[in-house]
Amino acid sequence: MNSTNIPPDIEPRRLHVACVMDGNGRWARKRGLPRTEGHTAGEEALAEIVRAAAARNVGWLTVFGFSTENWVRPRPEVRHILSLHRKIFGRVDEMRRNNASIRWIGRPFSEKGARTPVYVQRAIQKAVADTAGSNGLVVTVAFDYGGRAELARAAGRAAGAGPVDAHAISRNLYDPDLPPVDVLVRTSGETRISNFLLWQINGCRVYFTDRPWPDFDATELDRALALADTPR
Ligand code: IPE
Ligand code: MG
Repeated sequence: MNSTNIPPDIEPRRLHVACVMDGNGRWARKRGLPRTEGHTAGEEALAEIVRAAAARNVGWLTVFGFSTENWVRPRPEVRHILSLHRKIFGRVDEMRRNNASIRWIGRPFSEKGARTPVYVQRAIQKAVADTAGSNGLVVTVAFDYGGRAELARAAGRAAGAGPVDAHAISRNLYDPDLPPVDVLVRTSGETRISNFLLWQINGCRVYFTDRPWPDFDATELDRALALADTPR
């Protein structure tokens, strides 16, 4: 029995919500603002969603911060997005107040092709270490992340250690502890799956919304959560 006297087998399983945060640029353009302002607003929306998720039955929130494909964007935009990641990973006190921990997935810093600048690496390492004591919501930010790169690497590592089956792939993902995704969210009217968590999204529900990411709020999160099969 736990503290609420709900037997563990019927206690609602804590959900994994994954978000492709799309539409920052369009949000800004609609307001006559530079794209960078859209990314700034998107970072604030993320902080709000972390608070909302922590207050709900969400155990895992994984967001696509920056993909392996995003490096081709104009330099000033990339620089702005990088500085926003320093801000995200700097929200340590806030995360701790929400009993949330921060994690990161992406191309390991020392591996060939990895592009995370050192100052973002440091922000990531510090955030992960400083929030490791939280035991509530796990917020995972995908940065310099690509689902295919993750799977290719997992297959390569698995092949070096015996037969390659689904368990072997799972064990060799960037974060083997990341549970299967329950609901994948994609904003801004894009009804596509991109190169995000390709292994982990197997069997998940998908919530597509026309709202751009800066307008994604707690009400939207509730709509997404309503799609999840509970308990499973
Ligand atoms: C998502 O917004 C943010 C990142 C991919 C970093 P976009 O920048 O893709 O915004 P749109 O799609 O141009 O509106
Ligand atoms: Mg986009």
